[in-house]
Amino acid sequence: MSDRPCRHALVTGGAGFIGHHLVRRLLAEGLAVTVLDDLSMGKRENVPAEARFVEGDVRDAAAVDDALEGVDCVFHEAAIVSIRASIDGFARDADVNLGGTLRLLERMAGRGIKKALLASSMAIYADSPTPAPIDESWSAEPISPYGVAKLAAEKYWLMLGATLGLQPTVLRYFNTYGPNQTPTPYVGVITIFIHKLLKGEVPVVFGDGEQRRDFVHVDDIVSANIAALRGDAAGRIFNVGTGHATSVNEIAAGLIATLAPGLSAGSAPAQAGEMRHAIADASALRETLGWSPTRPEVDFADVVSYWRDAAAG
Ligand SMILES: NC(=O)c1ccc[n+]([C@@H]2O[C@H](COP(=O)([O-])OP(=O)(O)OC[C@H]3O[C@@H](n4cnc5c(N)ncnc54)[C@H](O)[C@@H]3O)[C@@H](O)[C@H]2O)c1
Repeated sequence: MSDRPCRHALVTGGAGFIGHHLVRRLLAEGLAVTVLDDLSMGKRENVPAEARFVEGDVRDAAAVDDALEGVDCVFHEAAIVSIRASIDGFARDADVNLGGTLRLLERMAGRGIKKALLASSMAIYADSPTPAPIDESWSAEPISPYGVAKLAAEKYWLMLGATLGLQPTVLRYFNTYGPNQTPTPYVGVITIFIHKLLKGEVPVVFGDGEQRRDFVHVDDIVSANIAALRGDAAGRIFNVGTGHATSVNEIAAGLIATLAPGLSAGSAPAQAGEMRHAIADASALRETLGWSPTRPEVDFADVVSYWRDAAAG
């Protein structure tokens, strides 16, 4: 990295979907990387051999202290990533997603760490009744416990980060897709549909399927993190999304046409806590840090081929 804003990065959640793509990019940029992950969702084999791996919980001070050894910048990706799980499991969600963030901030103090990037989410926003892009000033009235905890984490990150001498930045990711997304029944509609279709099962669309999302490729999420690391982003919040709206019905139709032509998607009631529409206006990220998405519209070809290869062994 030319201007050397960091030599050794900690990536919490670095065995997970976004985290492991970020780890690979940071290593390719010439940084040393430590990963802290409890492997509750992530996989050990996702962490490249060149990275130092600390298996532990982000709420555990000793594990965090170990992981922070020699580190001069932090990417906090570790979280329980499920709106649906947060509805009933709100205490556990807040314990990890807010409590873990506070533990990390506490242990980062006094170590000379500068750049500190927090992975937040579009879920911090109020519901959006139209698919018009929303910018960072859109009402922050989350409709899920997951969103509430992420919003509180953001506020601590920026407020405490500044008083602790960090250069804190918040990135609000929209719906992220790409190869090797951690498969769960709850997160990542593209990955869920591909898995169903490869098993010969019918993908299930919630509600009328006309809810629109901003699907942003994981490579573009990673490049937003790199742009924030290199640029002057201290104290800032940025949306990370393409601005392009795609309905869940369009995703189902596109994947069915590719993987199981002629099949019809199933349907189920709309899910609590999920926004009707969530499309990013990422002008601030473009204008401040020169970021732009390499895939301005959803492009799942590499995801399909990744899982086809994985299924073929
Ligand atoms: N995937 C998306 O569409 C999306 C959208 C918005 C924001 N985000 C945010 O991006 C970040 C990464 O999400 P992801 O999609 O890669 O999810 P993921 O589940 O694949 O990765 C999260 C990682 O955190 C680890 N983890 C969970 N609890 C932990 C704990 N207590 N201690 C240590 N590690 C723990 C998991 O094992 C996993 O490897 C999260 O903060 C998430 O909220 C994701």
